[in-house]
Amino acid sequence: MEMYELLMKRRSVRNFKDQAIPEEIIEKLLDAANNSPSGGNIQPISIICVQETDNRQNLAEIVGNQPWVKNAPLSLIFCLDFNRVKRWAVQNNTEFKGEKAFLHFLIAYADLMCAAQTVVILAENYGLGSVYIGTIQSNVDDARRLFAIPEYVLPLMVLTLGYPKSIPRSIPKLKREVIVHKESYQAASEAEIKRAFDEKYGDFGGKAEEYLEKAFVETIEADKQGGDGWAAWAVEEMTKLEIRNNAQFLFNLRYPAEIMVRLNERLIESFKNAGFDFFVK
Ligand SMILES: Cc1cc2nc3c(=O)[nH]c(=O)nc-3n(C[C@H](O)[C@H](O)[C@H](O)COP(=O)(O)O)c2cc1C
Repeated sequence: MEMYELLMKRRSVRNFKDQAIPEEIIEKLLDAANNSPSGGNIQPISIICVQETDNRQNLAEIVGNQPWVKNAPLSLIFCLDFNRVKRWAVQNNTEFKGEKAFLHFLIAYADLMCAAQTVVILAENYGLGSVYIGTIQSNVDDARRLFAIPEYVLPLMVLTLGYPKSIPRSIPKLKREVIVHKESYQAASEAEIKRAFDEKYGDFGGKAEEYLEKAFVETIEADKQGGDGWAAWAVEEMTKLEIRNNAQFLFNLRYPAEIMVRLNERLIESFKNAGFDFFVK
């Protein structure tokens, strides 16, 4: 299959066969991750391969009980790793202060995601499916404790992989023209923004279940895999909060604006616990 088609067909997969991934495939995925672009070629990342049942279970719990993390044969924890770089700098009579330099952090997080996305694409090519699990960012302290992650290392993304049992049907995306700007940024009118998102999700309707199938497929999939009533919870909350459209769904229920801002505190605390503090001299 042509690469373009492969990428246009890719969906986040959350339903995996009980089938191990051959070791030589895993090694190739990790080689590709290691060969990805890296700012300054510093390579400030580490990848923890989680395959054992107990570890899968523990990881699933700290990312919010997402059942596919327990059920999939492999999860990769992508860590931003300044520990190795700092020690190497000292060995060489110099100093690396990435844990205090936000620019180093930004670049390293970009490196980390380049490596992760390289794995996504190669995995797709081998007939594997994958899903990112970003919720580890809400539980960095537990992840560090459970996986013996040292100072100056932050587990910031999980990629869960396996052979797909089922693949979600196409999910809505903005039209290409909405995100692409020719030569300079083309400011959109209010009407253009409204149309862009209306076209993405279609009419909200009032049918919460149908909406979830389109916009929060995780809830439906979790319930199929023994989750604890995720879809029913979402429907109940949508009714209670009188959610009428997609924006309200996202920013009143799924990512409530005030809570998202309040989460800063927890995140900054976790960063500090790992030795990171960008705002001290
Ligand atoms: C940064 C990031 C974090 C994500 N976190 C989760 C997650 O915690 N759980 C999950 O099931 N999917 C997660 N996803 C997958 C998204 O839900 C998915 O990419 C999105 O719905 C679009 O679907 P698609 O990947 O099939 O295009 C995440 C994706 C990204 C890029």
